[in-house]
Amino acid sequence: MFVSVLLTRKVISMRHFIDLADWSTAELRDLLSLATRLKQEWQRGGNQPVLQNKVLGLIFQKPSLRTRVSFEVGMTHLGGTSLTLGPDEIGFGKRESIADIARVMSRYVHVVMARVFDHAHLVEMARWSDIPIINGLSDTDHPCQALADILTIHEHFGRTEGVEIAYVGDGNNVATSLLQAATHFGMSFRIAAPPGYELDEDTLSEAGEIAAGTGATIRTFHDPRAAVEGADVIYTDTWISMGWEKEAEQRVKVMQPYQVNAALVREAKPNAIVMHCLPAHRGQEITDEVADSAQSVIFDQAENRMHAQKAVLVKLLI
Ligand code: CP
Ligand code: NVA
Repeated sequence: MFVSVLLTRKVISMRHFIDLADWSTAELRDLLSLATRLKQEWQRGGNQPVLQNKVLGLIFQKPSLRTRVSFEVGMTHLGGTSLTLGPDEIGFGKRESIADIARVMSRYVHVVMARVFDHAHLVEMARWSDIPIINGLSDTDHPCQALADILTIHEHFGRTEGVEIAYVGDGNNVATSLLQAATHFGMSFRIAAPPGYELDEDTLSEAGEIAAGTGATIRTFHDPRAAVEGADVIYTDTWISMGWEKEAEQRVKVMQPYQVNAALVREAKPNAIVMHCLPAHRGQEITDEVADSAQSVIFDQAENRMHAQKAVLVKLLI
C-alpha cells in the first residue's frame, strides 16, 4: 500500500506555483498575457466566472494585507470562493504534519496558497497534495509578487526586454523572485546589496542559465549608486523581512547607505520608475518623498498582485 502511494505520487505531475525557476520562459510569458487579458476584461466590467464552484484555501504563517486581499477578491472576480486560515489557526507544522495538512486540504478545496517561513514546507506540501500549491511568500521566494512586478513594468514601458532594473538593499525573497522573473523576461538586472546580504551564488548561477536563453544580463554591486546609474527601474524592499526582527538593529545600521531617497533616484534615468512590494518602512529603505513621488508605481504593483494571481489561478485550475 505504501509503495502504491509512492508510485501514485510519481505518476501524477501536479503543477504548482512555488518557485519561478520551475516555470519556463514561454509559460511565464503566457501567464503575463493572461494576466493582461484578465485585467482588461475586469476593467471592461467584469470577468467571466470561469472558476465557479472552485474553492481556494489560504494558509498564513505570517501577516499579510496585499496577498490575502488580492487572492480573496481575485477569486471572487472569477466566480470562485476562498477561505483564509490565519497564523496559529491550524498550527502549521506543529499541530499535525504538513503531509497530513496537504492531504486533508486536498479533500476540501481545489487549490491552496500558503505563506510560510520555511520554503521546504511548501515543497513538502506539494509532495503530498493532490491539488496545486501556490507560494504566497516563503523565506526564499515571492513568485506572485515578481509576476505582478513584471506586469507593472510591462504596462509602464510596453516591453520588458532590455529594461534596466536596479534592486537596492537586502538580497531577500523578493529580490530572488525578481531576479528570476527579470531574467525570464529578458531584462537587465542589477542588484546592490551590502556584503553579507547578497543573493546567494546558487540563485545567481541558476538565473544566469535562464539569462543565457533570453538575452537578460545580471550584474552585482555593493555600491548602490553604481547599480542605479542610468536604470529604468529602481526597486527596494524592507531591510527586515518577517522572521528577521531579532537582527533589526544591525540590519538598519548596515543598510542605511542603501536607502532609496531623492539623491539616489537622481542617479537613474529621469523617467525611471520606483517600485516597492510593500509594506514600506518609510524612513528606512525608502523615503516618503520617493514613495509618494510621481515616479512611484507602488500602488499599481499592489493592484497588479490581484491580476497576476488571477492568471495563476486560471492556469492552474482550468
Ligand atoms: N507584498 C506583499 O506580499 O504584501 P503582504 O505581506 O501585505 O501580503
Ligand atoms: N521581504 C519581505 C516581503 C514582504 C511582502 C518579507 O519577507 O517580510
